[in-house]
Amino acid sequence: MSLPDDDISEVLVSQDDIRKRTKELGSEINKHYSGKDLMLIGVLRGAFVFISDLIRNISSRCIVDFVATSSYGLNGTKSSGNVKLLKDLSDSVKGKDLLLVDDILDSGTTLDFLINLLKVREPSSINVCVLLSKPSKLKKNISAKYVGFTIPDKFVVGYGLGYNEEYRNLPYVGVLKESIWANN
Ligand code: IMP
Ligand code: MG
Repeated sequence: MSLPDDDISEVLVSQDDIRKRTKELGSEINKHYSGKDLMLIGVLRGAFVFISDLIRNISSRCIVDFVATSSYGLNGTKSSGNVKLLKDLSDSVKGKDLLLVDDILDSGTTLDFLINLLKVREPSSINVCVLLSKPSKLKKNISAKYVGFTIPDKFVVGYGLGYNEEYRNLPYVGVLKESIWANN
């Protein structure tokens, strides 16, 4: 049986690059949030690997919660532009310094939706941290305070990012072969 690695045409961000950059992001976050009431919010499912490595590089006091959204549908490589909230937060955000953590800033539709949802709940501040950013695809006025890597407009998987719910277990970020998604 073939392995998920067989469907990757190019490794875009290696395991080592991710490890180093996550450490740097953790230091920047520590500096900015020292003495603040930090609450990290991971966007499921894509952010679960990134946030779990990121929090282990954060030494400030913090709490972690999750939301789940969907905009792609199964077999999609393009956002439908219509975000659904599949799971809301468990905790209140009132008075907290929120850091929304997502795998990738693509069109910005998901983060725009989440920021609008959360800002009416009276947090103290909201910032965004993404592992990847595809600036050429950005449609909304979102700027992420923390960006791991800026990448070209290619459909990528691994390190939490999936296609058809697969490939999330790859330890690096790679470009998915066109033959896998072209006919969908
Ligand atoms: P946006 O709403 O268009 O910014 O897309 C956000 C979500 O789409 C991300 O949180 C990812 O889950 C997913 N996404 C966007 N680009 C990719 C990609 O290249 N590979 C896998 N998932 C992606
Ligand atoms: Mg996502």
